[in-house]
Amino acid sequence: MKILSIETSCDETGISVLEYKDTGVVSLLGNALSSQVEIHAKYGGVFPALAKRAHAEKIVPLLTQALDEAYLLEVADEPKLFDTEILSFLDSKETLLKENIEPFLKYYEKPDLDYIAVTVGPGLEPALWVGVNTARALSSVWNIPVIPINHMEGHIVTAAFKTEDSLPAMPAHAGQTGKTFTLSEIQFPLLSLLVSGGHTELVLAESLGSYKKIGQTRDDAVGEAFDKVARMLGLPYPGGPAVSKLAGEFRAKNIENPFTMPRPMMHSKDYDFSFSGIKTAMLYAIRDLTAQAGLTISNSRELENGEKEALACAFEDAAIEVLIHKTLKALEEYNAQTLIVGGGVAGNTYLRSELTKAISTRQDLVQIALLFPEPWLATDNAVMIGLAAMTQVISSQIKTRNPEELRADGNLSL
Ligand code: KG4
Ligand code: ZN
Repeated sequence: MKILSIETSCDETGISVLEYKDTGVVSLLGNALSSQVEIHAKYGGVFPALAKRAHAEKIVPLLTQALDEAYLLEVADEPKLFDTEILSFLDSKETLLKENIEPFLKYYEKPDLDYIAVTVGPGLEPALWVGVNTARALSSVWNIPVIPINHMEGHIVTAAFKTEDSLPAMPAHAGQTGKTFTLSEIQFPLLSLLVSGGHTELVLAESLGSYKKIGQTRDDAVGEAFDKVARMLGLPYPGGPAVSKLAGEFRAKNIENPFTMPRPMMHSKDYDFSFSGIKTAMLYAIRDLTAQAGLTISNSRELENGEKEALACAFEDAAIEVLIHKTLKALEEYNAQTLIVGGGVAGNTYLRSELTKAISTRQDLVQIALLFPEPWLATDNAVMIGLAAMTQVISSQIKTRNPEELRADGNLSL
């Protein structure tokens, strides 16, 4: 049973091929990923129109690459004939995708695949549509059913799978091909802390596939706050890893931090978050520090490296403390047995170590299984979308949709 998966919700274009065997093992047969970081770096954030164009340029080459890795790409003996009307839905808004996908469908054989899984939301709608329309085109011409996937579910289920390294006999491709996954025995209730550039939420589940959001950010997502703070400190996009690295350098000095940032909503009764206040406090701290005698921006000086490290650390301390405080509160109230952390910020080493420490030192929480995705699966990729589809295969609850009915929904909720 083989699934092709497609991810284009933000600034990563991903295509993967996963195979499920009755032994319960899922193998990664092909994996291609292209990041648009360099395109968006000069703007300090993701530009939807540019993201859409980059997805449309990259998706067919990546499709070819992933299928080739999976040994599923076969050049047709003669051009395939199909009713070109089938692709007419691409005519108005997806001309670039059409230019690329039409020859692909003409010159390659239909691959041996059982399903196509695609991210339908949440995310940037113009970007999502490229993946959705690709799935629709492939599904219509090849006659393969589509499984629509919620991107956030992808982040959750990824950590629910145990990963093993490639067998030595497998070809060592750059895209981690040859890795295998098995679904862990999850004890429910399961709480998920989802932290990315677009989301910060706490989600409760009684089983995989049925989710209830119990709290979310009221303004910026935590990853977005990391990115904005990075920009203030003159660090490159995406800012999370860069801010975190500076913060770590400050912590290693073991000296008192002259800066402290607020912890917005930390003690509110709900499970909501707010990060714009920390960001504004950072802005003021930087302004006060850099403005010279006349207190004008034009009169300002550059931040020194030591100051940048201390500020980054003050920000990371505040953001992570709020995340952990609310997460522990929810674990306690809902008697959760498993905690999954997902999304790009799940790759944050300070969050990982502090959360691990907090849970292991709390007598009432030590029994909780804490699961993180492997770092290469924490940020957006297509493997997580294929794994979400695989959980439907494993539980024999596959939910397909007719290709003509597929829609991208930027605000899709779990
Ligand atoms: O899940 P993801 O790849 O894309 C979205 O769906 O948003 O998350 C990307 C976000 C970016 O904001 C990035 O700065 C942040 O995750 N991020 C991090 C780290 N690695 C990525 N934030 C903090 N620490 C990190 N190590
Ligand atoms: Zn994501």
